[in-house]
Amino acid sequence: MLIQKPKGTFDILPKEAGQRRHILEKIRKTLSNFNYSEIQTPTFENTSLFKRSIGEETDVVSKEMYSFNDDEFTLRPEMTAPVVRAYLENSMYNESPVQKLFYFSNMYRHERPQAGRYREFSQYGIEVIGSGDFTVDVEVIAVGLQILNDFGIRDIKTKINNIGTQQERALFIDDLKKYLTKYLKVLSIDSRKRFEKNPLRILDSKDPSDNEVLENAPVLYEYLSKETKDFFSNVLDLLKDLRIKFEVDYRLVRGFDYYTSTTFEVISDELGSQNAIFGGGRYDMLVEQLGGKPTPAIGFACGIERLMIVLDKNEYEYPEKEALKLFIVSIGEDAKKFVLKTAIALRKKNFKCETDMLNRSVKSQMKEANRLNAEYVIVIGNEELESNEAKLKRMSDGIEIDVSVDKIYELNYNID
Ligand code: HAM
Repeated sequence: MLIQKPKGTFDILPKEAGQRRHILEKIRKTLSNFNYSEIQTPTFENTSLFKRSIGEETDVVSKEMYSFNDDEFTLRPEMTAPVVRAYLENSMYNESPVQKLFYFSNMYRHERPQAGRYREFSQYGIEVIGSGDFTVDVEVIAVGLQILNDFGIRDIKTKINNIGTQQERALFIDDLKKYLTKYLKVLSIDSRKRFEKNPLRILDSKDPSDNEVLENAPVLYEYLSKETKDFFSNVLDLLKDLRIKFEVDYRLVRGFDYYTSTTFEVISDELGSQNAIFGGGRYDMLVEQLGGKPTPAIGFACGIERLMIVLDKNEYEYPEKEALKLFIVSIGEDAKKFVLKTAIALRKKNFKCETDMLNRSVKSQMKEANRLNAEYVIVIGNEELESNEAKLKRMSDGIEIDVSVDKIYELNYNID
């Protein structure tokens, strides 16, 4: 092995590729029931798009972006900013006042790899652009939970918060900094770094000594206006109405600057330290920040690899691969050519069949048919070609019937 894959990436081998396809198809079905439409954007964007939307001081922008061409372009680390860019660039607001969009895409972040954290990973996500109504917040959370429920995942926790408007947050951040100044020495190195540039993120810290300090820190909720608090309680009341279990977490601020108002995260203890399956929130200022008219919006994204880890832990049963209907064994050169032509003709008729490609003995070809779980086998050699008679064998019970070789194309391969 001369060259290996880059750190933090992974190969998706056929078995897993099939599992992924199943996951995506299932998710697609639910998203279609909720009337979401798919959107795709380029794998890379102008770097300024992410700097402007996610924020220069965030971890993602300051240290995790894969940028190239003298920093002009960046592989997308997330999809919200590209979707909003596409929404504006294609004047999607003219098509409909509310756009309900979803995506399945690969993301790129130069993070320290560990279980559930990769440098290339995939997300499915949804973005609703154009409505600021609290019912949309509830619908968006319900979509994510419904999808987990579709897969039988129930052992999860939904955390929710409201981080208010930028103005509401500004007052809080001032007070938080004043409070934290007294404890700078005991804060973790990360939190000390964040103190100047991104103090809000200190609230997200998992460090035990930070947590002790934060216990008596000012609480963001207290800084929210009556309007924001009312909005928040409308969201919570409707969630309760829908019997959606949640925990309010006043410290859930999430990592990107574009968030406003509602933020949420769904976590699973089965994921270890990278425990978020999906997360998102409102970003009511982003469309305007990128040059559009004031347009409220909300969405979330879910890590497909993390979803698959949870599915594995839950021993989720993926559907079996479509079985091979027929394996045609060939003996000799003439039969080999005939068998290849036959197989191609059958496949044209939507028939899943296979032949030998290694000039193997009949015994080895039968072994291969077994390994591939073929439902039926036909053996074709010179004898069969000359007599125009062959045997079709059902592998499950060994029952054989006579078939005419020149009718092989027309058979429906059902002995019963
Ligand atoms: P995010 O929290 O950065 O949000 O990512 C969403 C999900 O992607 C996470 O909950 C996790 O499942 C998965 N994820 C993130 N980073 C990695 C990684 N390095 N390796 C594996 N999985 C990962 C966003 O990306 C926002 N754009 C979500 C959003 C949409 N907010 C509003 N609309």
